[in-house]
Amino acid sequence: MRPFVLLVAGVAALGGLLFGYDTGVISGAMLFIAHDFHLPLHMQEIVVSVVLIGAMLGAIGAGASADHFGRRATLVSAGVIFGIGAIASALAPSPSLLILARFVVGIAIGLSSVVSPLYISEVSPSKVRGGLVSLYQFAITIGIFAAFIVDYVLAHDGSWRWMLGLAIVPSLLLLIGMIAMPESPRYLFKIGRDREAEDELQRIHDGDGWRIEEQTIRSALMQRQGAWTEIFAPSVRGALLLGIALAVLQQITGINSVIYYGPRIFAATGVSGAEAAILATALVGAVNVLATLIAIFFADRIGRKPLLYAGLGGMAVGLLALAYVFAQPGEALSGLALASLMLYVGCFAFSLGPIVWLLISEIYPLRVRGIGMSVATLANWLANFVVSLYFLTMLHGLGGPVTFSIYAAMCVITMIVVARFVPETKHELLESISGGAAEG
Ligand code: BGC
Repeated sequence: MRPFVLLVAGVAALGGLLFGYDTGVISGAMLFIAHDFHLPLHMQEIVVSVVLIGAMLGAIGAGASADHFGRRATLVSAGVIFGIGAIASALAPSPSLLILARFVVGIAIGLSSVVSPLYISEVSPSKVRGGLVSLYQFAITIGIFAAFIVDYVLAHDGSWRWMLGLAIVPSLLLLIGMIAMPESPRYLFKIGRDREAEDELQRIHDGDGWRIEEQTIRSALMQRQGAWTEIFAPSVRGALLLGIALAVLQQITGINSVIYYGPRIFAATGVSGAEAAILATALVGAVNVLATLIAIFFADRIGRKPLLYAGLGGMAVGLLALAYVFAQPGEALSGLALASLMLYVGCFAFSLGPIVWLLISEIYPLRVRGIGMSVATLANWLANFVVSLYFLTMLHGLGGPVTFSIYAAMCVITMIVVARFVPETKHELLESISGGAAEG
């Protein structure tokens, strides 16, 4: 692989930092925001979840924007919007302005969550596409971990404005980085700038490899040119449903219950003291980052489906062990709780986390790729919202053993979906996959 390709993918992956940093930072900041603004619980919930609502809107607009204005321009805009939202959050004089600023942050996250993986997928040679798109998940996990460190360091004087304001760093990195990056060659072909598209393809590929890509892209574009309604055409419906299913399953197997409520889960399993809960959360965050490397190195070597099977199996075991911990009240099983959460998060990090983003960037035909990814990503944010909203209610109403067993059952259902419907996309040319998905 050419170093240039790694650079382009690495810069676009910075979109994941926005996503991860905000996901991670708000729980620590919320304690102090609630205190300063005297916020009742329902207002706290709005401050946290308004980002998800913004992200849904951003995701809806992202595909159309990527198809109309281009992948690169959309990512640059995401950097600008996120920067404005971050500064406005940090300076917000009142709860209502804070909510508005976080809504703006959400829009940027929604935009980048569609376009970062889409762009990386389109600029990557097929032999390394899995690893490069997994860089996006890597950036998400680094963002979560960095936010955790920022929260921890700034907690002593309660500087929530700095916690939120430091989000300007990832937004500037994305903005400046993307201004310097080229446009996706697939988008350039799509809008008829063939000469530039050919140049970009030649920069990406060694030798004559670019000619094969060029031919498949051109023939994909020669098929019916579709309006966005083509996403409902019978030939694309299979891919549409598969993308939505994968995006929802990624969330209803419970990952964000752990990411958002980790310390509370530890407290409930008997890890005593704030320090211990923070340490446990840091360990889980570190495993989340490190295990993603497995996907980066192996998605193109052993393939997407084997990683999914192994990861989903491990996630189910981790969840069942956690259910067992919750079923033994009074017993000191905090070590087992920590080990099960690390197993669960580690297995997610090399399977369902990166591979879902990868697959949804691969399975749609070029002519409706932007809009297809928008729909799948919208489903992902919606499922994220619902699961986060109801997790604590489930934990209290149904209890730990039932809640975590339900998540484990979802892992098994996901395995069945993978076995039955997911194509192995390793080494396939992007346009061959979507052609296959369209027929299937
Ligand atoms: C998911 C996020 C999650 C993150 C955790 C991503 O793939 O889409 O919802 O917070 O992984 O690392």
